[in-house]
Amino acid sequence: MAASTISHGVKTLGVVGAGQMGLGIAYVAALRAQIPSVLLCDASPAALEKGVSFFETLLKKDVSKGKIQQADADAARSRLITVGNLEDFATKGGKGAEAADMVIEAATENLAIKQKIFGTLASTLPLETILATNTSSISVSKIAASAVGAGVKAGSEEAWKSPARALGIHFFNPVPVMPLVELIPAIQTSPEVVARSRAFAQACGKEVTTSKDVPGFVSNRLLMPFINEAVMALEKGIASKEDIDKTLRLGMNHPMGPLTLADFIGLDTCLSIMETLYRETADSKYRPAVLLGRMVDAGWFGKKSGKVKPRRQ
Ligand code: CAA
Repeated sequence: MAASTISHGVKTLGVVGAGQMGLGIAYVAALRAQIPSVLLCDASPAALEKGVSFFETLLKKDVSKGKIQQADADAARSRLITVGNLEDFATKGGKGAEAADMVIEAATENLAIKQKIFGTLASTLPLETILATNTSSISVSKIAASAVGAGVKAGSEEAWKSPARALGIHFFNPVPVMPLVELIPAIQTSPEVVARSRAFAQACGKEVTTSKDVPGFVSNRLLMPFINEAVMALEKGIASKEDIDKTLRLGMNHPMGPLTLADFIGLDTCLSIMETLYRETADSKYRPAVLLGRMVDAGWFGKKSGKVKPRRQ
């Protein structure tokens, strides 16, 4: 793919959430795109500590495999700064005067939480800062609409311009390995913001596709019904879980069978995406498998929790 002609212009990147996705995004931004300051924010100091330790483990692994030099690893580590508050993105965590040029939110997949984050970011960051969400299925236009800062007068120029800087930048798990980023412009997003975001994703070493802001975008509109169908096949006793996965691994050369993949993504996430698809399209082909719901009810979210995580509300 030809490189974008527009520069991303990101010197300081903010990443909200030090979980699997946020950490992976911070990693490719610091190592591959060489963004000078990558601010990783999480309200939980323990999550930040765990994130930094995983970041360092990934660097060590890449050095030991000969993929990067020790100097590259040291440089990437020096670009990572941890912060505890969203407001720190405006002051570079007290380490400089320049505010973040782009923030990628990779918090919990919950609309209310994302709206709150976007409201705070819009209130504290300059109008030029790109505000991106890594949501896997929530309406980006709805999240973008909350990118109008507190105290902004309805109908003012700022109230109109603010959501135009928001969009979806959807990375895939594990972020350092998966070569794709899906861009999802909200209906409010400006073309310049899309072009700069494309350039940023390419600088992170990713291929880029674009999807309209529809439930599940392209990726999860195709992937989740496939996973859901595999759970239904298990539920109906069509084959054992081993044989369902083996069929897709060996018959179609998938790196993981659909049930293992669901376990890897998180059953709670798969269910939540299926619920969004079903609710927003009212199409019965997206009805979540009953077994998927039951497993989530039981707290069996997959690899991240094993079978012991308490029930979701
Ligand atoms: N972080 C960083 N690197 C990781 C990693 C992680 N969490 N997990 C594995 N890797 C790296 C390994 O270090 C290894 O690197 P090298 O090639 O340099 O040695 C490489 O990935 C392969 O790992 P393994 O040899 O351990 O295992 P594998 O060959 O079975 O590959 C896999 C693991 C890459 C996860 C592969 O099974 C795979 O591609 N699975 C499908 C993953 C997928 O579909 N992801 C998308 C999920 S959907 C999503 O994310 C979006 C959404 O909205 C839900």
